[in-house]
Amino acid sequence: MSEAQKLIIFDTTLRDGEQSPGASMDRDEKVAIARMLERMRVDVIEAGFAIASPGDFESVQAVATAVKDSTVCSLSRALDKDIERAAEALKPAARGRIHTFIATSPIHMKFKLQMEPDKVIEQAVRAVKKARSLIDDVEFSCEDAGRSELDFLCRIIEQVIDAGARTINIPDTVGYAMPRQYGETIRQLIERIPNSDKAIFSVHCHNDLGLAVANSLDAVMAGARQVECTINGLGERAGNASLEEIVMAVRTRKDFFPVYTDIDTTHIVPTSKLVSRVTGFPVQPNKAIVGNNAFAHESGIHQDGMLKNRETYEIMRAEDVGWSTNRMVLGKHSGRNAFKSHLAELGVLFASEAELNAAFARFKELADKKHDIFDDDLLAIAKDSQQLH
Ligand code: KIV
Ligand code: ZN
Repeated sequence: MSEAQKLIIFDTTLRDGEQSPGASMDRDEKVAIARMLERMRVDVIEAGFAIASPGDFESVQAVATAVKDSTVCSLSRALDKDIERAAEALKPAARGRIHTFIATSPIHMKFKLQMEPDKVIEQAVRAVKKARSLIDDVEFSCEDAGRSELDFLCRIIEQVIDAGARTINIPDTVGYAMPRQYGETIRQLIERIPNSDKAIFSVHCHNDLGLAVANSLDAVMAGARQVECTINGLGERAGNASLEEIVMAVRTRKDFFPVYTDIDTTHIVPTSKLVSRVTGFPVQPNKAIVGNNAFAHESGIHQDGMLKNRETYEIMRAEDVGWSTNRMVLGKHSGRNAFKSHLAELGVLFASEAELNAAFARFKELADKKHDIFDDDLLAIAKDSQQLH
């Protein structure tokens, strides 16, 4: 097998994830999640849609200020005013990306855009050139590519690559694609577009038929080298492909996939808990990787096998994805490091030593008065201390 290539992990929890009805997040919550994603070594964080609202603009700006290792991205329609707003919000970023999109399926072009296909190409090319005049890193998405015609995708993609797009995203916007068919689309695009070697092909799959992860992985086998995904599979309607499932599939089946990721998987569960807490969306117990039962063994036969050799029933280790094996109880005799690491397991990162010290002092006060300290007590202390600074 030839050497594995890097698979870029593009997280859109803060943008498409926030499009889940009822999952809105404020600026500080977005920054807290972005910090966890950066710590996990996510390559690209889509922080929002800068023109959508003043709050979204501020969130993109705040994430661009706080995050230095990951690329920070803002979505924009293929319109000058959107692109200018995205560029403005991304000014503080060490590495910024503008992600511009236009619909390419016959149904979207006819009814939503009410534009002729040639005009759609013209607008896409103009938008990519405009974005490239403001920033080096430009991604272009063909919205509803899953229902677009292959010949039209080839035409528009060839021209936006010539205009300067360096990532080409092929979204299955309505979750319509089927695994072998979607991979074949990606393979054909890469083969047929003459300048395809100048761009990275990316996929962005929705989960309407429960196939978002399967479709994304099929596309990776066909040559896609960026996957767009979200923590806990959050996202518009039935959600997006789940980051934790994509990353762990690639890592667990190294023998199968021609790619690797840079993700530090030990931060997966704490980040999942943080996202669940912030959005109020519980994680179902049997959810792969991050559900409470994902590593629990109930039947006697399984338990017996596990006691003899864990690999009889476990293909991944719980600790590798951040489930705690630590049974330490926090009380008035606990130290600052135990306190800090317990909160990190709950997805809380302190922005400074001063914030940690303030929280630790409050914890000690509470521990003097209360015998049993629960995670909810610790989270309340952390939240209060973060607001004090
Ligand atoms: O699902 C979709 O098509 C999107 C694009 C804007 C990338 O979210
Ligand atoms: Zn989407």
